[in-house]
Amino acid sequence: MSEFAELAAKAGALDAADELAAARKQFVLDEVVYLDGNSLGALPANVPGRVEDVVRRQWGGLRIRSWDESGWWTAPERIGDRIAPLVGAAPGQIVVGDSTSVNVFKAVVAAVRMANPVVGGGGRDEILVDATTFPTDGYIAESAARMTGCAPRPVTPAQVPGALSGRTAAVLLNHVDYRTGRLHDLPALTAAVHAAGAYAVWDLCHSAGALPVGLDEHGVDLAVGCTYKYLNGGPGSPAYLYVRSDLQDRFDSPLPGWNSHAEPFGMRSDFAPAAGALRGRVGTPDILSMLALEAALDVWEGVSIEAVRAKSLALTDFFLECVGAYVPDGRVESVTPVAHAERGSQVALRCEGAGDVMKALIERGVVGDFRHPDVLRFGFTPLYVGFADVERAARVLAEVLGEARRR
Ligand SMILES: Cc1ncc(COP(=O)(O)O)c(C=O)c1O
Repeated sequence: MSEFAELAAKAGALDAADELAAARKQFVLDEVVYLDGNSLGALPANVPGRVEDVVRRQWGGLRIRSWDESGWWTAPERIGDRIAPLVGAAPGQIVVGDSTSVNVFKAVVAAVRMANPVVGGGGRDEILVDATTFPTDGYIAESAARMTGCAPRPVTPAQVPGALSGRTAAVLLNHVDYRTGRLHDLPALTAAVHAAGAYAVWDLCHSAGALPVGLDEHGVDLAVGCTYKYLNGGPGSPAYLYVRSDLQDRFDSPLPGWNSHAEPFGMRSDFAPAAGALRGRVGTPDILSMLALEAALDVWEGVSIEAVRAKSLALTDFFLECVGAYVPDGRVESVTPVAHAERGSQVALRCEGAGDVMKALIERGVVGDFRHPDVLRFGFTPLYVGFADVERAARVLAEVLGEARRR
């Protein structure tokens, strides 16, 4: 049997044994191999109908009555409670709204305020920021530092334990590195941050919906994440903010809006924060996007995040195996860790001419993305990517690289 036939047969066997295979039917997909769900998740098939109902019946028919009768007003916390089990949180700790960037701002400033409860006192004047972070977190942490009289200090996640001190107020970390797909040790890093008396803020954009996070179990203080990647909420769908229940009374938002007020319709001139995670809200929620997200979350009914993680690792293992078998030595180098404990749900391959290679892949129906300067990024969403897709993606990559070499 040729190598291609062998791996194609293996893909068939893996697909036949896949307990999540049926979930794919719940998405709108075509013959394209879609490996970009770590950037924009695919459309769940029930979303268009639900959005149409929200627009025509709730908005068009009920109009303003929908704030109560269609549950618009309570959507941020209701949908937060739907996301909660996916990230290991008990209800009442997550609110949905705003972008990840805005929630990073709220969380980092609130963490610094918790670390220095006496205004002008406390002496915790450093924010450690993941030096490998998705840029927006770094920009916002830098601004939050300036506003709170702190110094931002970029460190890699591995350097965090050595950089912590009595001066550390907050540490902002990514659970999975957006470029390399490296999974960081959230339990150990959170414990180290706590041992130093500081607060940990985690960005879950690349882990929520792809692997178990265990926010409550590991005592994470604050967390943020987007919903348009592995949670399939749609382009620009609202992000979320987690505030651990025992910290909620001390969560002093830098963006106190009327939606964070204890009595939003009291129209008072003085601010009194709402009880619980609700104080993480700001202004009027983006109802159309939010309710599209709510519908998208239906695909998680009866799905265990542990099963998703097991399939994700099997998919990335199989992709690395197929790339190893098909692509000539030296053409690509994986920058994603081999160890399961250090791998998210993507594989990043460093490759000469990566931008052009990705264009050629997309033309042939294999959609990943390119990250400057030389990385091909492939995301594996276990709910709709199968093993035959993986084998095809590696085969097409080998073809594209072979043709590039001949040219
Ligand atoms: C890790 C990470 N953080 C933050 C963001 C930005 O989120 P937003 O555009 O929702 O503010 C992204 C976007 O891809 C991301 O990957």
